[in-house]
Amino acid sequence: MTDIDVLLTENRKFAPDAAFRRAAHISSRELYDYAAADPVGFWEGMARELAWTTPWTKALEWTPPHAKWFVGGKLNAAYNCVDRHVAGSRRNKAALVWEGEPGDRRTLTYWDLFIEVQKCANMLAALGVKKGDRVVIYLPLVPEAVIAMLGCARIGAIHSVIFGGFSPDSVRDRVNDAEAKIVITADGGYRRGQIVPLKRNVDKALEDCPSVEKVIVVRRRPGAEGDEAFATMQEGRDLWWHRLMARAPSKHEPVPMDAEDVLYILYTSGTTGKPKGIVHTTGGYLTGVTMTTKYVFDLKEDDVFWCTADVGWVTGHSYLVYGPLANGATCVMYEGAPDWPEKDRFWDICERHGVTILYTAPTAIRAFMKWGDQHPQKHDLSRLRLLGSVGEPINPEAWMWYRDVIGGGRCPIVDTWWQTETGAIVISALPGVTETKPGSATFPLPGYSAELVDNSGRIMKTGGGLLAMTRPWPSMLRTIWNDDKRYVQTYFSKWPEHPDYYFAGDGAKRDDDGYFWILGRVDDVLNVAGHRIGTMEVESALVEHPSVAEAAVVGRAHELKGQALAAFVTLREGQHATPALRDELREFVAEKIGAIARPDDILFSADLPKTRSGKIMRRLLRDIAEGRALGDTTTLADPNVVASLKEQYEAQES
Ligand code: WT7
Repeated sequence: MTDIDVLLTENRKFAPDAAFRRAAHISSRELYDYAAADPVGFWEGMARELAWTTPWTKALEWTPPHAKWFVGGKLNAAYNCVDRHVAGSRRNKAALVWEGEPGDRRTLTYWDLFIEVQKCANMLAALGVKKGDRVVIYLPLVPEAVIAMLGCARIGAIHSVIFGGFSPDSVRDRVNDAEAKIVITADGGYRRGQIVPLKRNVDKALEDCPSVEKVIVVRRRPGAEGDEAFATMQEGRDLWWHRLMARAPSKHEPVPMDAEDVLYILYTSGTTGKPKGIVHTTGGYLTGVTMTTKYVFDLKEDDVFWCTADVGWVTGHSYLVYGPLANGATCVMYEGAPDWPEKDRFWDICERHGVTILYTAPTAIRAFMKWGDQHPQKHDLSRLRLLGSVGEPINPEAWMWYRDVIGGGRCPIVDTWWQTETGAIVISALPGVTETKPGSATFPLPGYSAELVDNSGRIMKTGGGLLAMTRPWPSMLRTIWNDDKRYVQTYFSKWPEHPDYYFAGDGAKRDDDGYFWILGRVDDVLNVAGHRIGTMEVESALVEHPSVAEAAVVGRAHELKGQALAAFVTLREGQHATPALRDELREFVAEKIGAIARPDDILFSADLPKTRSGKIMRRLLRDIAEGRALGDTTTLADPNVVASLKEQYEAQES
């Protein structure tokens, strides 16, 4: 069980366009060499781009598996994201260009943000929130979410953002684990024309949360305050955001934070078990996200940057809030669903706001592919100059579609591999330097030591293995909130002889040119007749077929082969599921990557079970394929999908 077999080969290559390269922040490999020679010195150089009130005395203190970066240094994240731009030339530059799902719009300049964040800091301080206290933020994707995060950072309170799609139970568990003093929520948020009753969820959650003293409620819904359908205010506990903010003074001195003071906790649901409170600190985190935003996205002064993630995920923290704002960028923010009111909403937003950099997820890209080219083609997307992908392996076919149909064949694509735990992008192309290959995240960025490691802890230069970080990096998680033991066990116990190696939990391969290809979570790797096969390769082969929009492959127990392959396939719009197509797909995969990967079962399905962040939940598909009762389905975006799949699968078998 050491290696992962490598089945798929991809030979297309795309070099950066000469004009793009000439204008790029980084256009040569020198930075890689410089960083490789002195990684800590490299990160110190990056940290110096931030504003510090006290310089650090020691760049790195590494007592594996615990790292401290920029020891003794002091800075404030909100000051770095807002104040210093106001003091400079960006006073009237748009910081947030926001659009609500119903079509309402707000633009906040850096000056606006400066005032709002100071008021928010004063509002929280007046409620008794102090440095180190935890504040839960459970909001729709509205500007107040950003203001609240930065307001916390300004006074040194630790924010814990909970995605607005989570249920009362999930809110309760996270509030209790963090022992939050304050919850900031809204009367509702819009999703596909419906109102998500956030405040009602909070009321339910808080029946069992003794630590919470106050609930601050943002009024998102129009109409009178007296409209209590969505927000019944509990006397003494609940307060309206707009009333508190109206009274709060607009001047607030940011609290200088130690580089290693906690900036936030973010819970990752993972696919099993109790959510982990991932802890990020101030100096290292801000250094990591600031550097990667600038160089991976080649961010320039007049760019309009749209990261489509919700602030409830780490992508929203790092590339909607801290990274872009630390760089003084203009950020687009959209509250709602991509298919509301029509399936061209994203492209409409790109056109109207003049988006130049788009950063989204493969799950969204595959949905757009499935819906058809006519939707993006209705819009002028010629202002786009760079495209990013994050969250899952992107199949080469989806990558090519993204490049051709969205990027007009002209925009470089950065496929960025990272995790809630890494805080910032780790593996990605630099768009002015790297020749990209569809489906490969390419190489670790300067400053990082991502490697492929085999089961015995040996570094591999080619082939299939496990993804590891062999050295600490500034934006790495510091621990799991209240559970340092779990931190050590989960991330630093894979290779007993290397207690300093971070285990990412992903399988990957490196090809002969050294490119990294992420193969998916190690827990999902298939074992067919002694071959270890990454789910990504079989899925990519299926998606290459012109009828297929999306595929998920799992193993089910098989008496001879160990595991048999079960594929769940979603077809493109207008395609029909027939027995002939099923046979055709099985042969297609066999031809593409080898008979060993020919799926035994294929089930056509209108949808696949996904987490709320868009990741396919293969664990549940395994339950279906093996005829087991379904495991925990609470983190699913739509629990109905999996129930109907189970029925179909069973009907097909009988
Ligand atoms: C896991 C981390 C990274 C922020 C969003 C998700 C998968 C992420 C890629 C990519 C292949 C990717 C990995 C990773 N993943 N980006 N570009 N190519 N896989 O954060 O929820 O912590 O998930 O997402 O499996 O371990 P997360």
